[in-house]
Amino acid sequence: MKIGNLTLEGTPLFLAPMEDVTYKSFRWMCKKYGADVMYTEFVSSEALVRDVKKSKQKMTLFDFDRPVAIQIYGHNIDSMVRAAQVAEELQPDFIDINFGCPMKKIIRHGAGAAMLRDLPKMQQMAAAIVKAVKVPVTAKTRLGWDSTDKPVLEAALRLQDAGIAALAIHGRTREQLYTGEADWTLIGEVKNHPQIEIPIIGNGDITGARKAKDLLEKTGVDALMIGRPAIGRPWIFREIKHFLQTEELLPAPTISEVVENVKEQMQLNLEWKDNERSAILMMRRHFAKYFPGLPNFRELKIRLLRAETNNEVTEILDEIVVKYGELTPDYSV
Ligand SMILES: Cc1cc2nc3c(=O)[nH]c(=O)nc-3n(C[C@H](O)[C@H](O)[C@H](O)COP(=O)(O)O)c2cc1C
Repeated sequence: MKIGNLTLEGTPLFLAPMEDVTYKSFRWMCKKYGADVMYTEFVSSEALVRDVKKSKQKMTLFDFDRPVAIQIYGHNIDSMVRAAQVAEELQPDFIDINFGCPMKKIIRHGAGAAMLRDLPKMQQMAAAIVKAVKVPVTAKTRLGWDSTDKPVLEAALRLQDAGIAALAIHGRTREQLYTGEADWTLIGEVKNHPQIEIPIIGNGDITGARKAKDLLEKTGVDALMIGRPAIGRPWIFREIKHFLQTEELLPAPTISEVVENVKEQMQLNLEWKDNERSAILMMRRHFAKYFPGLPNFRELKIRLLRAETNNEVTEILDEIVVKYGELTPDYSV
């Protein structure tokens, strides 16, 4: 598939943008295990225009990331255009517009998924951004607002007219938030619509290699995007790639190997954050997901989630290796 002049071979795997998750250390882990395309966490156009330090930090890109997109969101077309221009200065491979975030603090102002209720404005915003920057512009959205209002096909046609270079679709409505199962039927209908020429990236609940292949075959999407299933399992990208090529399932890593990865991710956080505490806080969401299905693991997990220093974390991880080193995580739980 192509995003502007960027060519991606085979079925590329995208790491989904996730606030407070897809920062440097996690992107590194996913890239190491075969994720092809990265996004930053979403960045508020209003904050960017005001030059807020935290937003700028979120947009920092690294060589290992490439190809990588900066994702922006907002409700005001002028601010979004300005934000895209600021983002472009950091030389991302493309800029992505968030038309899918369901959170109240975002939709209250008419941004994110709220744009699905105003498709002419969505189109106008996308066209204005495409015109204002030289890098390709993509978008990410959902099926619609709720079960009675799923205008994703019209949105896709309008975004294509606006010059959007590719569209990622998460198979849920705004009303669903993250509940229920992602529905890929409409994603497939958009992909196979005779007027759709831009690449379509399918997203939602790709929880393993078999499912990835199945969804790919059913819908024919150009790329797969994976978010939550990669938390605590960055090797899911390698597993999916291997299965798509060989139809062979790779064995899960042993807990010893998992711990090596957790330590590496922790170390990257320590290097990148200037204080130990924030590095540890960033890890908690990941700690909780790295060890599914271990017998009698509760106490160690609670200790890991409460640890306050890197030394404490390391000690607990070493205990985990002693107790469970040869076992493998159980991703079916
Ligand atoms: C913690 C969290 C943060 C997210 N932040 C963003 C974001 O910044 N931008 C965005 O487009 N989607 C965001 N999403 C949605 C994901 O990109 C993705 O569409 C969704 O999780 C469904 O894919 P999955 O089933 O593979 O997780 C977020 C999801 C989660 C769980």
